[in-house]
Amino acid sequence: MTFAESAGVVIDLLANYLEQCRSGDVPVVAFDSPENLAVKLRLADLVRDGRLEEQLVPFLQVYLAATTRLHHPAYMAHQVSVPAPVAGLADLIHGVANNPMAIYEMGPAAAAVELFVIDWMLRHAGWHPGGAGVLTHGGSLANLLALLAARAAIAPDAWEAGTPADLVVLAPAASHYSIARAVSIAGLGRRRLRLVPVDESDRQVPAALRSALKQARDEGLRVMAVVANACVTSTGAFDHLETVAGICREEGVWLHVDGAHGASALLSPSHRHRLRGLEHAHSLTWDAHKMLRVPTLCTAILLRDATAFDRTFAEEASYLFYGHSSGGPDLIHRTIECTKSELGLKLLFAIAAEGESGLASYWDGRCAAAARFTAIARRTAGFDAPFDPESNIVCFRWREGDDGEQIRIREALLQEGRFHISSAEVNGRRYLRLSVMNPATTDDTFRALLEAIARTAEQPTRA
Ligand SMILES: Cc1ncc(COP(=O)(O)O)c(C=O)c1O
Repeated sequence: MTFAESAGVVIDLLANYLEQCRSGDVPVVAFDSPENLAVKLRLADLVRDGRLEEQLVPFLQVYLAATTRLHHPAYMAHQVSVPAPVAGLADLIHGVANNPMAIYEMGPAAAAVELFVIDWMLRHAGWHPGGAGVLTHGGSLANLLALLAARAAIAPDAWEAGTPADLVVLAPAASHYSIARAVSIAGLGRRRLRLVPVDESDRQVPAALRSALKQARDEGLRVMAVVANACVTSTGAFDHLETVAGICREEGVWLHVDGAHGASALLSPSHRHRLRGLEHAHSLTWDAHKMLRVPTLCTAILLRDATAFDRTFAEEASYLFYGHSSGGPDLIHRTIECTKSELGLKLLFAIAAEGESGLASYWDGRCAAAARFTAIARRTAGFDAPFDPESNIVCFRWREGDDGEQIRIREALLQEGRFHISSAEVNGRRYLRLSVMNPATTDDTFRALLEAIARTAEQPTRA
């Protein structure tokens, strides 16, 4: 087969796959052991024979059948996008053209696209002109970059001399674990992360932030950064950003907003107020592979002050840089990665597929669906849904069950393969959790899920 024929076959199979997933007539997730899958996929034969093109169709049939089907209406588990399929084509283009454009000469078109989409994001954040950003491989890396930029601001010598011993980071107790990792990687040590108490919805308590700032000052410590969640991973609630930003301004402290999930609300005229106060923050993490319908991975790290990037890294690589760039700007000075993917193209495709207003409606629609799920759960016997959703994330419980029972229910649903949901701890209690990502998920899906949970909960626990 020629490349064009192979590609045509793959696209046909994917188009069928999408249709099948969206119909909901197949399991959303089906588990098999890696050993069994290796046999079914004939991995050893493929490697030995080296004739992939002849085996492409049977291989892909088995492979796609063993995927977790994010395009399925019953996929409601994690904050991973149900991508606009056309944005997936950008990955194909990148896979073939392979322009790792961190240095301009390795991909002028890709660099131009990335710079354009970064400006688009900066505009939505209200940080254009004046700000700068870069696309990177995931929110965890973006959070690390933000903290490194904060470190360069408070301790310009840290790059050479190491991280000073008097720095602390204050972050809400419910922050994503990548914040704690970033604090350790940035050389502060995990004990230098001070957790700010959260309320019953896992939102940072501003009064507690004030006390934590005062305590740090009283102890002679310097606060390298305060973190705010927009929104928090567990319940999808947004920190009171305006209040937190006001406090950070008074104290002259770097504010990092972890908007990995919720920054996409900036596109929505009816939801963007949740990020009011962002204008005073210093850095923002924004995952496009969560709510912008972009395939993994694609995250922006944005800084309100472009010059902060210049201070963040100070590396030499004589084989790449010699004082000036060939032909255009090099993004490599802003990234942890040396070689990086053409991340901008898939974001551009996702935006261009439905336009900005399409992405705004997508955010609004998923949030409205989460609110409807909450209302349905509250009306359905046996369920508690204590949080009013502020995004497309919902936590709820099977009332009669303890924490272990919530986990048992989720595991049983996963094994059955009809529904894919997650779970999370909020204030020490385990909840079932939905991320309503899929436009194909309807109120009928929600009702069927609640019925399935009730049925599962009433089944005796297996010994
Ligand atoms: C608030 C928040 N920050 C950061 C991350 C990490 O993002 P990534 O999975 O892209 O590394 C997540 C992931 O769910 C998140 O919810």
